[in-house]
Amino acid sequence: MGTIQIKNLSFRYDGMVNHIFDQFSLSIDESWKLGLIGRNGRGKTTFLNLLLGKYPYHGEIQSNLRFNYFPQPITDFTKNVVDVLMDVSGLNESEVWKIQLEMDQLGLTDDLLSRPFSTLSPGEQTKALLAAMFTDKETFQLIDEPTNHLDIAGRQVVASYLKSKRGFIVVSHDRYFIDQVIDHVLSIDRAKIQLFDGNYDTWQREFDRENLSEKNEKAHLQTEIKRLSATASQVKQWAGNAENKKSKKAYGGQSNVNLDKGFLGHKAAKVMKRSKSTLKRTESAIDEKKSLLRNIDDVVPLTLNYKQPHQDHILLLNDFQVQRNHNILNEPITFDLTKDQRLVFEGPNGFGKTTMIKAILGEKRLIARGSSSFSKTVKVSYLTQEFETLSGSIEAYAKHHDVELPVSLNMLKKLGFERSAFTEDLSELSMGQKRKVSLARSLCEPANFYIWDEPLNYLDVITRRQIQKLILKVKPTMLLIDHDRDFVDAIATEPPIELKKYR
Ligand SMILES: Nc1ncnc2c1ncn2[C@@H]1O[C@H](COP(=O)(O)OP(=O)(O)OP(=O)(O)O)[C@@H](O)[C@H]1O
Ligand SMILES: [Mg+2]
Repeated sequence: MGTIQIKNLSFRYDGMVNHIFDQFSLSIDESWKLGLIGRNGRGKTTFLNLLLGKYPYHGEIQSNLRFNYFPQPITDFTKNVVDVLMDVSGLNESEVWKIQLEMDQLGLTDDLLSRPFSTLSPGEQTKALLAAMFTDKETFQLIDEPTNHLDIAGRQVVASYLKSKRGFIVVSHDRYFIDQVIDHVLSIDRAKIQLFDGNYDTWQREFDRENLSEKNEKAHLQTEIKRLSATASQVKQWAGNAENKKSKKAYGGQSNVNLDKGFLGHKAAKVMKRSKSTLKRTESAIDEKKSLLRNIDDVVPLTLNYKQPHQDHILLLNDFQVQRNHNILNEPITFDLTKDQRLVFEGPNGFGKTTMIKAILGEKRLIARGSSSFSKTVKVSYLTQEFETLSGSIEAYAKHHDVELPVSLNMLKKLGFERSAFTEDLSELSMGQKRKVSLARSLCEPANFYIWDEPLNYLDVITRRQIQKLILKVKPTMLLIDHDRDFVDAIATEPPIELKKYR
């Protein structure tokens, strides 16, 4: 039976102070369906890349398995689907039937094969790449966040597909999805990496239990640090006094004389030595407690800079239809969004939601029919997919968006952002970390109305729960698109508006 044996694996990127992996050992069986979970930036993608042998590391990774990584890099999106899929799978023309077989299980029809890859919707692209990946029965699959570009229906199809497969690691932050497909969980935390025999729920129960005991542990550590610090300063003071007294005695009351230790009485020297070693021990105990404290992942409540709008009617759409390149995209929609309501648009990926939001925000040329009236005095905070291409420093980003830097950094800390990542160029951050940068901006800027386009994409589950709690507490006015079913069900105040393709 094939296994992956990891022994004392240590790794950090150049210039990083702390290791992402520090002497970590694990054994993975080739038959496992392993879910890899952990907060953004903890090293999930890095771990998959280490298995692929992409970076040099310390320790050992031994395996007789071959690995495939999703999403496979695509060099030319204008090529036909069949050529792209042959490229990424290494199959030739006589073996295309293998791809078709897998595509069929994912509900993709053969006619897609002759279309340029770029014309597939993001969800179709995901499914096609997964189909190509699973044509190879001999490899162990490393699947990094397949759900990001899938709508609710697409997630269900892929979940059922993966359920029928074995031998893979899948990274996903969608709890509903991952619970259906895995039988083991590997959780990557700041303090430790843990393996669980079970699904997401198994991990969640353990996480909640540990979180509670960590909270207690944290309070305990903080008291201990305080107590030890008081002891340390007492010892310091006492040692200083004793030394002073002794030297005064030795020099007939003159205190400003350089002390020769050999001159001190034997007993006094012993006491001094003991107090110094007590001080050293106390100080190292403080350091140790502080480092334990750093390992505890804080999950703190978030805040939102929401100002209730003065007007009751925020957005009114009447038989509203939008267009792209003179093509009408949607069947007419009508609604009246009032203060404190949270309305969710439900629609497939690749539908043209961005066009729709831009039209709502006032781009008249995108409106094909009907009307939208939107109060211009309402201050909107708009969260888009811009984060995927972020670059530059956090300072520059905050300045550009007129958000105070310390406020923004504080929010990022609450979102589980490592302090060390503050200085990295935004383009080097993990996808989830990038998402958090733009989310923090939206949480910090003053607003009466939030338009959030797939806010949860790439975000870890802990952050998802933080946001859900925040919304349920503050109850802001919102228009939202997201494919996380649990989240949407929890926060919407109205039945979803279903976006339908115009026929
Ligand atoms: N090429 C790189 N150079 C320097 N630092 C990097 C590089 N790639 C990632 N990092 C950093 O290493 C850490 C781990 O990144 P990684 O992408 O593995 O996280 P992740 O767990 O996959 O996060 P996410 O859930 O957001 O995808 C992050 O702090 C990230 O900023
Ligand atoms: Mg990642």
